[in-house]
Amino acid sequence: MCGIFAYAGPRDVVEVLLTALKRLQYRGYDSCGIAVLDGDELMVVKEAGPIDRLEKRLTQYTFQARAGIAHTRWATHGQPTTVNAHPHTDCSGTVAVVHNGVIENYRELSQRLTERGHILRSQTDTELIAHLIEEALSEQSRTEDVPNEQVFLQSVRQALSQISGTYAIACLWEGAPGLMIGARHGCPLIVGAGEQEVCLSSDLNAVLPITRKVHILNDDELVLLSEKNLIIVSVTGQELSPRFQVIDWQLVQEDRAGFPTFMLKEIYEQPDRIEEILSQRCRGEQIPFFEELTLRPSELIGFRRIIIEAAGTSWHAGIYGKYLLEKYLRLPTEAEIASEFRYRQPVLEQDTLVIAISQSGETADTLAGLRQAKSRFVRVLGFCNVPGSTLSRESDGTIFLLAGPEVGVASTKAYTAQLIHLFLFTLYLGRLRWILDEDQIRSILSSLSGLPEKMRVVLESHDPIVRDCARRFQNARHFLYLARGINYPTALEGALKLKEISYIHASGYAAGEFKHGPIALVDKDCPVVCIAPTDSVYEKTFSNIEEVRARGGRLIVVTTEGNSDFDQMAEFVFTIPPIFEDLTPLLTVLPLQLLAHHIASLKGLDVDKPRNLAKSVTVE
Ligand code: AGP
Repeated sequence: MCGIFAYAGPRDVVEVLLTALKRLQYRGYDSCGIAVLDGDELMVVKEAGPIDRLEKRLTQYTFQARAGIAHTRWATHGQPTTVNAHPHTDCSGTVAVVHNGVIENYRELSQRLTERGHILRSQTDTELIAHLIEEALSEQSRTEDVPNEQVFLQSVRQALSQISGTYAIACLWEGAPGLMIGARHGCPLIVGAGEQEVCLSSDLNAVLPITRKVHILNDDELVLLSEKNLIIVSVTGQELSPRFQVIDWQLVQEDRAGFPTFMLKEIYEQPDRIEEILSQRCRGEQIPFFEELTLRPSELIGFRRIIIEAAGTSWHAGIYGKYLLEKYLRLPTEAEIASEFRYRQPVLEQDTLVIAISQSGETADTLAGLRQAKSRFVRVLGFCNVPGSTLSRESDGTIFLLAGPEVGVASTKAYTAQLIHLFLFTLYLGRLRWILDEDQIRSILSSLSGLPEKMRVVLESHDPIVRDCARRFQNARHFLYLARGINYPTALEGALKLKEISYIHASGYAAGEFKHGPIALVDKDCPVVCIAPTDSVYEKTFSNIEEVRARGGRLIVVTTEGNSDFDQMAEFVFTIPPIFEDLTPLLTVLPLQLLAHHIASLKGLDVDKPRNLAKSVTVE
């Protein structure tokens, strides 16, 4: 969840570290810090709060550094204070470590270290790593023929061998100026190899401005890096050849392109993204095709059951996928919350395909679900946005979402990219399994042609009215979201968007389930957002909405253009252009994203970096 960056090279190290931290801050933003080797002296500067505070403090220093490490934190162990911010150092202040992940034998290690005389200053698990390295360094017999870099490497290996849990680390030691060591076990870490400069990061976005030539560390690999050297070794000490690849991925734009927030920029990017996805996947109205998919068609034909596992917004997309796969392919499909799937004892047989959906490709629970499936010899197909991510590397095949980098913590364009890919994948599988013929597919595909334009219309025409609605309801204490059928996940997603960025309680329900309890919540102060396009379940949804109105609920309705049923009933009506029923969720979610955004902005909240959240949830 936190961001790691390390750099060695001729540029201004502090400036490079700060720029990288700004790119990483969406991964965690409660505190941050850097450590540099100023000549052969280790200097650490850290701060609670946002990066500009650290930046301001750093103006007081002038460092002559050739190497440094940096971290932006999302607290797991210990409050987000300056003392708990990374980097952490050992007793002598000669070793500095930044870390992502969780050390599970934290208690046992801290007790052991304290008994041996170490003074632990923070409440973090990370600090223990610095002390373990310190101990290992002092145990290493330093003879003249063992260079310091080998001593350092051996010490880090020895320290890591005592840890159980997950980690990606980067560390510095005064005894080996200009050198950094990184290691990973369960958390991503990417090595960038430029011309006479190297870097290391938890996130591709921070590496790409330095170089596109990368080596993605595998679990239990370490890397020793300096301006001139890049050595990969296994945790057992065996030297490995780097597996370099050149990454061709659009860089996260640092500016918001005139939008007040990244989230709003990303909401407005959706029509272009969908247009691009359709042109890449369907090339006109061809049968959808996924070039990167390494699962063979012969394998995809044999499955008799599908389990989709994912978290948060990606899970909502998974429910949409379930509805489509069952409808078109008649394949039993479940959409599971990853954190439940991983711990219950699901029936996983070899005729099952597991689909793991994740924007980041680093969500701990989703990865654990993937690993569970693989350990039972079940094939896993990933739907993922980030190239090189753990999910894309560990799945048996991956479909990339092509949403481009998403910075706002609240997922928007990745969600619609997930929906459209699930839609296209259903058609692809339908063709492969001879359930849908070419004519049926072409006729369904023809309904996609106007989709990007319709998305543009919804966004552009609704912005002012959604702002009015946001003003009216910004002080509501809770919101309810209702829908049926293919838009049920839209209700869940609309509610999630609102609560995560505006901190207003919101729940989404299947409209038919509402009168089995939640309807008791409805009163004259309760806004109820009803998603009711004129689809095959419209009449049923309409009756449920009438029940809400009869109890005094304040209605906000999303329906299809030309439907006047709600003109007298609802305080606000947002309309979508008519479209094929199974594509309506790509339109109905748009005003709900805007509503959440505008309410949070009116409340003066940090939309892109909501409290307590981080972009990728790499701890369970
Ligand atoms: C979405 O707005 C959330 N911030 C969150 O629910 C997210 O979708 C979830 O953590 C899963 O992330 P992933 O898609 O990267 O796996």
